[in-house]
Amino acid sequence: MVADNSMDFLIASRRQRPGNDPIFALNAEAKQRIAAGEDVINATIGALLDDEGNLATMPAVVEALRQVDSRVGAGYAPIPGRPDFRQAVIDDLLAGSSLHDVSVCVSTPGGSGALRMAMDDFLEPGQTVLTGSFYWGPYQTLADEAGRELTTFNMFAEDGRFDTAALDASIGELLAAQGRCMVILNTPCHNPTGYSLDADEWKATSDVLRKHAKTGPLIVLLDVAYAYYAPDALEAAVKALAELADDLLVLFAWSASKSFAQYGLRVGALVASVPDAAQRDQINNAITFSCRGLWSNCNAGGQAGITRVLTDPVLSQQVKTERQALVDMLDRRVKAWNELAGPKERIVYPRYQGGFFTTVFCDDPKAKAAALREMGIYVIPTRGALRVAMCAVNEAAVARIVEGLDTVLA
Ligand SMILES: Cc1ncc(COP(=O)(O)O)c(C=O)c1O
Repeated sequence: MVADNSMDFLIASRRQRPGNDPIFALNAEAKQRIAAGEDVINATIGALLDDEGNLATMPAVVEALRQVDSRVGAGYAPIPGRPDFRQAVIDDLLAGSSLHDVSVCVSTPGGSGALRMAMDDFLEPGQTVLTGSFYWGPYQTLADEAGRELTTFNMFAEDGRFDTAALDASIGELLAAQGRCMVILNTPCHNPTGYSLDADEWKATSDVLRKHAKTGPLIVLLDVAYAYYAPDALEAAVKALAELADDLLVLFAWSASKSFAQYGLRVGALVASVPDAAQRDQINNAITFSCRGLWSNCNAGGQAGITRVLTDPVLSQQVKTERQALVDMLDRRVKAWNELAGPKERIVYPRYQGGFFTTVFCDDPKAKAAALREMGIYVIPTRGALRVAMCAVNEAAVARIVEGLDTVLA
């Protein structure tokens, strides 16, 4: 039978889906111009490139992956992930914390998988997840796909610091409206602003979270995709959350993508820290069930290789050294940015001490980004700002980006 052309095969909510991710589209355009010989700066994509523009990797990680037994890589991993991988992630994230011994973990395809699963298991269909007003765009996509909504609280107060009053109000509203609340916080090195909450901000945030925790189930999902790019800030976050774990649910979206420069490996984990043993078992069962229902199981060879680099004393030391060289390279760009952009009155951006991105506040970001493209500079327009991927440009390019911004923001 021939299908009637007027017949809609897609369900209504899926018919207007955009065909192309905007970041990948701008990246493709910049690459095309570079290939055609133009002197273009491509500050779009969220992968760490070396100063020559090649994807930065950690040789010890690459070697460990190469050494994975072919039968291990070819076989299925257990549904919740390899036990040694799950333990290694908990050790990596929580060694020395009171959360260490009360946490369960499942393997997910990247941090993205962990975020998606958390929305499925800790919010009812149609409920709303909360995050800051600047956020990684796929949070919205993941929520859409999961049949959840996303709303935001104002992220920065007048003084440029984390707006805990806005967080307070939004959690209160969501708890009142839907009886539960899940908030995603992305620190350290927030995407897209590079912002890391400091100890004082965590104190104020903890007060807000504690205040609401008694009203209804409150779930704090810490997205630690950039954990290794500001380890002190991660420690401050874990410390603050450990003190709250009796009152609310602490989740972590852990990822090997940036931490081990293995974006395509799709290795990640959802970690849930639950002091109550009965609840912990129930949550462990639910997230294991979700693994089966969402993706069955994850990359077996990837988990085996990442487990080795996390646990083998020689390899893990080698990886730490290699990673530090990459963090130092990125930090040089951050320093150049702060030195050059800091004094420019027109370039206003949140505290930026490290991480893949910084974000410059502006009106009409689409027009400003288009004007920059005319000058051969590619950045990502977001709501009320331009995201500059410092991970993707060398130190020398920073001056040209700052000059370009200063011109278009005039
Ligand atoms: C804020 C944030 N969270 C999570 C991720 C997840 O990445 P992956 O799914 O590759 O682990 C990314 C990747 O860009 C990110 O920027």
